[in-house]
Amino acid sequence: MVSYKELGLVNTREMFAKAIKGGYAIPAFNFNNMEQLQAIIKAAAETKSPVILQVSKGARNYANQTLLRYMAQGAVEYAKELGWEKPQIVLHLDHGDSFELCKSCVDFGFSSVMIDASSLPYEENIALTKKVVEYAHKYDVTVEAELGVLAGVEDEVSSAVSHYTKPEEVVDFATRSGCDSLAISIGTSHGAYKFTPEQCTRDPKTGKLVPPPLAFDVLDAVMEQLPGFPIVLHGSSSVPQEYVDMINSLGGKLPDAIGIPEEQLRKAAKSAVCKINIDSDSRLAFTAAVRKVLTEKPGEFDPRKYCGLARDFMEDLYKHKIIDVLGSDGKA
Ligand code: G3H
Ligand code: 13P
Ligand code: ZN
Repeated sequence: MVSYKELGLVNTREMFAKAIKGGYAIPAFNFNNMEQLQAIIKAAAETKSPVILQVSKGARNYANQTLLRYMAQGAVEYAKELGWEKPQIVLHLDHGDSFELCKSCVDFGFSSVMIDASSLPYEENIALTKKVVEYAHKYDVTVEAELGVLAGVEDEVSSAVSHYTKPEEVVDFATRSGCDSLAISIGTSHGAYKFTPEQCTRDPKTGKLVPPPLAFDVLDAVMEQLPGFPIVLHGSSSVPQEYVDMINSLGGKLPDAIGIPEEQLRKAAKSAVCKINIDSDSRLAFTAAVRKVLTEKPGEFDPRKYCGLARDFMEDLYKHKIIDVLGSDGKA
């Protein structure tokens, strides 16, 4: 058993309370490798932003759980080396799908876990979430739950359509499960294809696809039911056109990739939405950089050259999200 406190990490409780009060959101960036972690920590340290390092089940399998824990511990020390005296860093399990996985993460030094039982029937979602909460809270680890289903793929949970969260269920769910924060479904979805072209309209001036707006009425109704309760948005990548264009012009194939417009995320960040999840944008930045280096210099075979540019692209992306979208700079 390793306590996250020994690793210099923090849980989300105080961080979320401050974010709601201050009208900003904490960035939750997924990481799978050293370059992503370096870029996240550098961006957070240089902007003095609290940050959530997210690890999915897939990332844990990819990178190895022991290595990840030491990487997170190293991240805290790296942040201090960069001049961030009291780093506000959370290590969070993203989309945990069982009690055993959540328990293992608590035991391995995570400071926050998500139990995603949103695909289960309502009562089973409550029961499983409660079981995770009872275990995690013994160690002061905070728990995110999910109610409603996002379109797209949530690890093993697959759904072709999205089922918005029902505001009339949130008080009962939060009270009986004891969760610390709640991920809701208001029209975001995972990946780089959040909407089909048929779901979008076209801007007559640019000819570009314009996605439908998020269901802010559902968010408002949830906030009315649960005043001041921390709300989480998954699937919040914006799928920057510059990266998509770069990838496509360098031999990639991402037709009609489309994300959530940043102005909608800016609006959400000012509300009780206090955690915004971004993974796909970082994958796009990484891929664009690797394609650029390998296309421009076909003879290059030093991974530090293409992973180095990928790291620069991701750092710029994370800083942009922190400063221009979530407003979390200067809050840690
Ligand atoms: O919500 C899912 C995250 O983007 C993690 O994706 O399961 O492929 O690591 P992954
Ligand atoms: P994106 O695919 O939009 O980046 O969402 C990531 C996410 O929700 C991780 O849990
Ligand atoms: Zn997610």
